[in-house]
Amino acid sequence: MSAENLKRELSSLQKDLEKKLQVIASREELDNLKVEFLGKKGKLTGILKGLGSVTVEERAQLGKIANELKKSLEDNIDEHLKSIEENYYSDLEKLEWSDMTVLPSRFPEVFIPAVSRGHIHPISQMQRRLEDIFTSMGFSILDGPQVETDFHNFGALNFTDDHPAREMQDTFYTLQNHLLRTHTSAVQIRGMKKLKPPMRVIAPGRVFRYEELDASHEHTFYQMEGMIIDKKVSVANLLYLMNTLLEEIFGSKVEIRLRPGYFPFVEPGFELDMKCLICNGRGCAVCKHSGWSEVLPCGLVHPNVISAGGLDPAKWQGAAFGLGLNRLVMMHNGIEDIRYFQNANPSFLYQFDI
Ligand code: PHE
Repeated sequence: MSAENLKRELSSLQKDLEKKLQVIASREELDNLKVEFLGKKGKLTGILKGLGSVTVEERAQLGKIANELKKSLEDNIDEHLKSIEENYYSDLEKLEWSDMTVLPSRFPEVFIPAVSRGHIHPISQMQRRLEDIFTSMGFSILDGPQVETDFHNFGALNFTDDHPAREMQDTFYTLQNHLLRTHTSAVQIRGMKKLKPPMRVIAPGRVFRYEELDASHEHTFYQMEGMIIDKKVSVANLLYLMNTLLEEIFGSKVEIRLRPGYFPFVEPGFELDMKCLICNGRGCAVCKHSGWSEVLPCGLVHPNVISAGGLDPAKWQGAAFGLGLNRLVMMHNGIEDIRYFQNANPSFLYQFDI
């Protein structure tokens, strides 16, 4: 074949490819096209086989043209691939979009007014009330992350690595070796590091445990941690605070009892129980038929925890408590099953539209 012919064939190759690209919409077709033009037995190689019959000068010139052409064909193909991928995602968006507002209610028996202004969830209502009570007593409010480190949730709270108490709380771990905090006590250390003692803080928030669900256990629930750090803090201070708090919440004297309770981060530690308001002490599913409900585990902060918070335990003492917000709302409103809070049933939630 003459050099002229070869040149012509090479230049028609580019046009040929451009034409074919116009109708190609999938990756697979594009791969096939690439083989057809640039593969070992492809069109370009086919043309280059004819180079044997031309002069050395012509060969050098044609070789240069062929190399440039090859690069330009590859660029064309790559560019097309990019646009196929972009279209793929925008098409997918169109394909997968669905209008959730027209889905039927999971609770068809409940009448939902066409214009509903919504309201604050009962747990948040309780949280806000408690925040008011505590801030009026000089507490500040702290926040902490829900995905925590082992250090903040366990290590710094005096749970050693092989401590059996780690098993008291079944934990969700993330693949990156973090965990979903099992209690708001994880904020204790953050608080001590952030603020200067003497201090009084509360830390409300969501916590998670890998629980078997029943009337009084949820995998996701809400607590409010409280902590005081001062030069001298005693059990009497703690009890006075707990009593005042419960009376404020329930608006009257409530019957409480104190039992020793074990938590590695407090010493001594207590379980503070309240006479079950749902059954008035007769026994029901919520109080596990004991007539009492654990509402307020508490104690004096363990010296190891004070040190882990960066303070000198010879100078500073502390008291801490952990309020279970779900249980408080249950006691306050006579709700017999903790699972109601998270199942989004409007007929339950509308009762709290105040
Ligand atoms: N963090 C403990 C729990 O969730 C409760 C607690 C808080 C106990 C503070 C003592 C002091 O079980």
